[in-house]
Amino acid sequence: MKLLSCYSVLLLLLLLCFHEALSWSTEYTQFSQAENYEGSSDLISLEYHMGPVLASAINLYIIWYGQWNPTHQGTIRDFIDSLSSSSAASSYPSVADWWKTVRLYTDQTGSNITGTISLSGEFYDTGYSHGVYLSRLSMQSIIETAVTSRSRPLPLNPRNGLYLVLTSDDVRVEDFCRAVCGFHYFTFPFVVGVTVPYAWVGYSGSQCPGMCAYPFAWPKYSGKPPPSDGIMRAPNGDAGVDGMISVIAHELAEVSSNPLVNAWYAGDDPTAPTEIADLCLGLYGSGGGGGYVGKVYKDAWGNDYNVNGVKGRRFLVQWVWNPVKRRCFGPNAMD
Ligand SMILES: *[C@@H]1O[C@H](CO)[C@@H](O)[C@H](O)[C@H]1NC(C)=O
Repeated sequence: MKLLSCYSVLLLLLLLCFHEALSWSTEYTQFSQAENYEGSSDLISLEYHMGPVLASAINLYIIWYGQWNPTHQGTIRDFIDSLSSSSAASSYPSVADWWKTVRLYTDQTGSNITGTISLSGEFYDTGYSHGVYLSRLSMQSIIETAVTSRSRPLPLNPRNGLYLVLTSDDVRVEDFCRAVCGFHYFTFPFVVGVTVPYAWVGYSGSQCPGMCAYPFAWPKYSGKPPPSDGIMRAPNGDAGVDGMISVIAHELAEVSSNPLVNAWYAGDDPTAPTEIADLCLGLYGSGGGGGYVGKVYKDAWGNDYNVNGVKGRRFLVQWVWNPVKRRCFGPNAMD
């Protein structure tokens, strides 16, 4: 009896610690006007907390969890390839130009975040190895499954690997659509064997486009009509995937500048850090704020975009905090 209760207390403590650790993740939450800070740099206390940034060339591994539309996969691959493409491959302003703002962040040795992100492997978890209801911690088990699979496993690369788990439309994820569209964190050695940064982003197409595919869909529950110039039109033909691209961009910017959640963030509470993309939610161009996305471009079909990518692709990605200019910034800025 005594032993048993001792165990229960221990278990409870462990669970508590665990819960603490889990709630420590950093997430893309829904667009909120209150979190736009364009031009108000006095309010921002973005600080460096001495931890590492992703300074060496990143090997990115995608885990496609669930059933994916090949067209959507192609759009996402092209976005990843655009991050470090040369100016010859994508015209200005490009996705790589957008990434240059992220590169302004350094670690304590003065090394900048890398400009090289290679798609180094893909794993297709078409059998939903961990079901269709996933907790936050499940993401780590999904990575573990991908790196230990008997058929074409991904390499386990703790030196310069970054794992991106993308879940299909039919997968429910804890807090997805309710509070988050994506998050990043790092793996625990007891789940995956090593500590390696990862991010998760869900396809929101039918589950909650108004929240996670903003600004290509309008939140029904906002209680406000869409802006007079209408909602944005998706440059790659699908609100779900085009919205997801901006969330992926957001998470990649943050995982690179705060991979172990001890580098670049604002706020006094490390369990709820405000990171370099959180500061600019909902901003895509000059003059944005208060529900207006800002000045962006339109292609010949009237679709909205702010950066160019490889193969003539166009994308709409949110801005990130520029630590030199001390404001939100993107390469399509007019000033
Ligand atoms: C590295 O970061 C510093 C500080 O923000 C910046 O001045 C420099 O231009 C950056 N280098 C690159 C290659 O982005």
